[in-house]
Amino acid sequence: MKRASKRKPEKPRTPPVVRTIAKLRRATAELRRRNASIALVPTMGALHDGHLALVRQAKRRAKRVVVSIFVNPAQFAPTEDLASYPRTWDADLAALAALDVDLIWAPTVAEMYPQGFSSRIDPPAVAKVGLEDAHRPHFFGGVATVVAKLFTQVAPDFAMFGEKDYQQLKVVTAMARDLDLRLKVVGVPTIREKDGLAMSSRNAYLSAAERAAAPTLQRVLKDCAKHIREGRPIVDALAVGRAQIERAGFALDYLEARHAETLAPVAATTDEPLRLLVAAKLGKTRLIDNIAV
Ligand code: PAJ
Repeated sequence: MKRASKRKPEKPRTPPVVRTIAKLRRATAELRRRNASIALVPTMGALHDGHLALVRQAKRRAKRVVVSIFVNPAQFAPTEDLASYPRTWDADLAALAALDVDLIWAPTVAEMYPQGFSSRIDPPAVAKVGLEDAHRPHFFGGVATVVAKLFTQVAPDFAMFGEKDYQQLKVVTAMARDLDLRLKVVGVPTIREKDGLAMSSRNAYLSAAERAAAPTLQRVLKDCAKHIREGRPIVDALAVGRAQIERAGFALDYLEARHAETLAPVAATTDEPLRLLVAAKLGKTRLIDNIAV
C-alpha cells in the first residue's frame, strides 16, 4: 500500500541535524526507504539565496534533500579566512526548515578528519588550468577530498553545485565521472543581488564603499562577452575589461576567456563554447564571477 504524502506542518519543522557518520548512515537509510531518491547540497553554511536556489533545485530533482554544512579546513590556506569565515548557524537552520529540508549533515572537523586521516584526492586536469588553482594551489585538493567524502557518506543520487564557483563545478563533475561515482552532478545558475553582484558568503566582509564597487565585476563580464560576440578580438576585449576592473579599485587575479567545458585557454571565438572567468580582490575580500559568452 502506498503511504499518503506527508502533510506540510503549519510551522516549519527544524530538520534533524546529525553530526556523526554512524547517525548519518541510519538517517540516510531511513530517507532512502521505498527507494526514495536523495539530492545532496554541499555547503559551508552562512547560507544566502544562492545556496537556497541549490536546495530548491534539489527538491525538484529528488524526493529527499540533504544539506551538508561543513567549513572545510582542507580547502583553506593558512593565510586565508578559515577562522573568520562567517558562521550563521541559527539563521541557516531556520532557512533550511522553511524549505522543508529532510536532513542536515554537520560533521565536526574531528569526525570528517579523524586522527591519522591522510588520504587525499588528486583533483582532475580541469583543476590545473591556471585559474583558481594558480592563486589557491591547495584549494581544489581540499575541495575534491571533502566532496568525495561527502558523496561517499551520503551516497546521493544527485549533488547540486553553483555555477558561481564555475571551476569547482567542473572539477567536481570530472572527479565524479573519473571515479565512477554513481551520482549526477547538477550545475545551478548564479543567483545575484539586484545590482548584479553574485551572492557570496564573503560579500559580508565588504565595506560600504567596497560593496558599491563590487558590481563592476559582473558589468565588465557582461560588456566583455558582448564585445566578443560582436567580433572584437578576445585579447582586446579582455585588456579593456582588466583595465576597468583595476580602475574600480580591485587587485585583479585574472580575467580570462576559456573553453566552457575544459577551461583550456582559447585564442579565437571559434573555440566555442566560451566562458569568461574573473577573480579579484577588493581590500581583503576576494570575489569571483563568470559568465557565458
Ligand atoms: P559554499 O561557498 O558554501 O557554496 C556552496 C554551494 O553554493 C557551491 O556549490 C556554490 O557554488 C553555491 N553557491 C554559492 N553562491 C552561489 C550563488 N550566488 N548562486 C548559485 N550558487 C551559489 O563551495 C563551497 O561552499 C565548498 O567549496 C564546498 C563545495 C561545500 C566544499 O567544501
